[in-house]
Amino acid sequence: MKSIIITGGAGFIGSHVVRLFVNKYPEYRIINVDKLTYAGNLANLKDIEDKPNYRFVKADICDFDTIYALMQEEHVDGVIHLAAESHVDRSIKDPFTFARTNVMGTLSMLQAAKLYWETLPEKYEGKRFYHISTDEVYGALRLDHPEELFTETTKYQPHSPYSASKASSDHFVRAFHDTYGMPTIVTNCSNNYGPYQFPEKLIPLFINNIRHRKPLPVYGKGENVRDWLFVEDHARAIDLIFHKGKVAETYNIGGFNEWKNIDIIKVVINTVDRLLGRKEGEDMDLITFVTDRAGHDLRYAIDSRKLKTELGWEPSLQFEEGIERTVRWYLDNQEWMDNITSGEYEKYYESMYSNR
Ligand code: NAD
Ligand code: TYD
Repeated sequence: MKSIIITGGAGFIGSHVVRLFVNKYPEYRIINVDKLTYAGNLANLKDIEDKPNYRFVKADICDFDTIYALMQEEHVDGVIHLAAESHVDRSIKDPFTFARTNVMGTLSMLQAAKLYWETLPEKYEGKRFYHISTDEVYGALRLDHPEELFTETTKYQPHSPYSASKASSDHFVRAFHDTYGMPTIVTNCSNNYGPYQFPEKLIPLFINNIRHRKPLPVYGKGENVRDWLFVEDHARAIDLIFHKGKVAETYNIGGFNEWKNIDIIKVVINTVDRLLGRKEGEDMDLITFVTDRAGHDLRYAIDSRKLKTELGWEPSLQFEEGIERTVRWYLDNQEWMDNITSGEYEKYYESMYSNR
């Protein structure tokens, strides 16, 4: 019997991790701790919410007393920590919230786990604190050096308030291992795509805008490169690393799947058009080049060979299949999208867009 807290389980990646663990490990107790910020949505977990091995707790990870009490109550032996503020554009407008949640929130989770585990006779034996991070902590790669990839030893060089806050949280996690002997693991993953992603991120935002024939705001010239991984492949990697990864190690997770923004946008337009029965490419004129994002990292690309060599993980989906499944999911789940994009969020998005 394992009792595991998954933080941020009502968000995009967290909901896939919760679903995987709840379904795959009926003998585990999975406690989803989420504050339900604008990005948290319990509709992402409708299919598993009644499972007997699942519990949802609405709480802020910065609320140390609540987290510590929950660890005691649930006899927690594992933490998979995903809760975070995750959108770069928001971090540029409101960096404080990112420092609070990503840095202080992670510290609060670490300290609660430390103090609880240190009260147990077995202490850290059989325990695990697994922190989910991003490749953005490594900064940016050069466009004209395709051979360069982020490895686990690449120097941290974050540029946005989001990546700076994630880098800081990674350092705290490693410090808890080095100082107190806490069994920690950190993974740094590339851009995820797939169902249940909040529609402020490139792919779901653009799918929805194409559907409604709204402009597609492409930052700068659309030449920035991202390395895209299907979210269920990330969740599988998290499962493998949580169970088999070596304590104190870092693993990079990525799809060896680099795309220039403008190219991936064209694939998305063609796919949406085809699936909606429109002429493929007829919505290309929605592409609207807008002012570039401040400090916009040129290129991210992950070398995930360590994960493959040591633990045998590989992405399972070809990108063509992943993007087809993703577009189809958003088109089939218009109600999910409408519930988010109507009301308050629509006003927020319109104000972000008109300020550009
Ligand atoms: P998301 O924004 O979709 O979800 C974040 C979740 O955290 C939401 O459910 C939100 O309610 C919750 N949350 C936020 N602040 C909280 C707080 N103070 N207390 C409790 N819960 C809180 O994010 P995501 O895209 O699913 O990313 C999850 C994690 O994976 C993050 O740590 C992110 O840095 C990391 N990551 C994301 C990507 C990506 O492409 N999306 C890639 C690599 C790493
Ligand atoms: P995003 O999904 O925000 O992820 P990240 O910034 O973490 O990589 O953006 C992916 C890429 O798409 C990034 O280079 C910024 C760009 N982008 C646009 O050009 N227009 C948009 O409206 C958004 C949201 C992103």
